[in-house]
Amino acid sequence: MAFPTETVYGLGAAAERPTALARLFHAKGRPRSHPVIVHGADASLLERYSVGPGRDARALADAFWPGPLTLVVPRSRHVPDEVTGGQDTVGLRVPDHPIALALIAGFGGGVAAPSANRFGRVSPTSAEAVRAELGERVEVVLDGGAPTIGIESTVLDLSGGEPTILRPGAVSSSQLARALERPVGRVARDAGPRAPGRLAVHYSPDASVELVSADGLATRAAELTSAGGRVAVLSPEPVSVDRAVLVIDGLGHGTGYARELYAALRQSDHLAVDVVLAVPPTGTDIAEAIVDRLRRATGGA
Ligand code: TXA
Ligand code: MG
Repeated sequence: MAFPTETVYGLGAAAERPTALARLFHAKGRPRSHPVIVHGADASLLERYSVGPGRDARALADAFWPGPLTLVVPRSRHVPDEVTGGQDTVGLRVPDHPIALALIAGFGGGVAAPSANRFGRVSPTSAEAVRAELGERVEVVLDGGAPTIGIESTVLDLSGGEPTILRPGAVSSSQLARALERPVGRVARDAGPRAPGRLAVHYSPDASVELVSADGLATRAAELTSAGGRVAVLSPEPVSVDRAVLVIDGLGHGTGYARELYAALRQSDHLAVDVVLAVPPTGTDIAEAIVDRLRRATGGA
């Protein structure tokens, strides 16, 4: 069953039932070695699925759950190997969405849920996008409209020494550092434990994606269109670009850009766009997470 969250749509399975998890991995076409996040209705998730959740995990759960933060903590015996890809840690999150929370509470246990897309593809931010991704592979899609955040949760590893961001998201490193009263690190891309959100080529549309500066946009667009290319443009500021198939501009440098990003990439594919020219947002906090997703969509680091 697929369901909406405040970040992206998830594809859920009973977290403690290996047969349900096997079906989940099959539907996504995802390698079994990649861990999935266990979602709960409240912070009691920490007690059931981790061992001795430390002060940091409790403080962050207090500050940010329900919300777009996944905590990677040492796993308890209630977490099957299928969830963690054999690792001794588990990712836990309480989503901030009434449908997700009602579903999880009604089910009465942890719900393992990756984003409801085929492996390596752009996460869905609408029920239609889930259907387009998974078709008959998913029986039920709960429609909650567009997520308020639009990109996946921040993943924070609390299992080692220094708390470390594995995947940036709407909860920023400065917010985390403030709540923890100490600095948080950030892994270099593709270092450390296996995690699909950190493969360089991930979150990819069919179109190629290029990052361009606001100043270089018009020239690059003209180059591509005069060679017959179909071009889409994403920009924080309003722009005027001749002969682009799709222009999504005035997105701003923060939440608005995040909310529109994946729908824009999908729409580009729908319009058979060859190249998406994306002017990245500037700034820290959620802009960093948006730039991270744009870089992955380019296929480079
Ligand atoms: O916002 C989200 O997190 C969405 C919604 C549905 O909750 N879910 C999502 O799941 O993005 P998925 O499977 O597409 O990405 C989960 C990411 C993985 O890419 C991996 O980086 C990380 O969570 N992760 C999960 N468990 C982990 C673990 N034990 N160790 C390290 N990373 C882990
Ligand atoms: Mg995903």
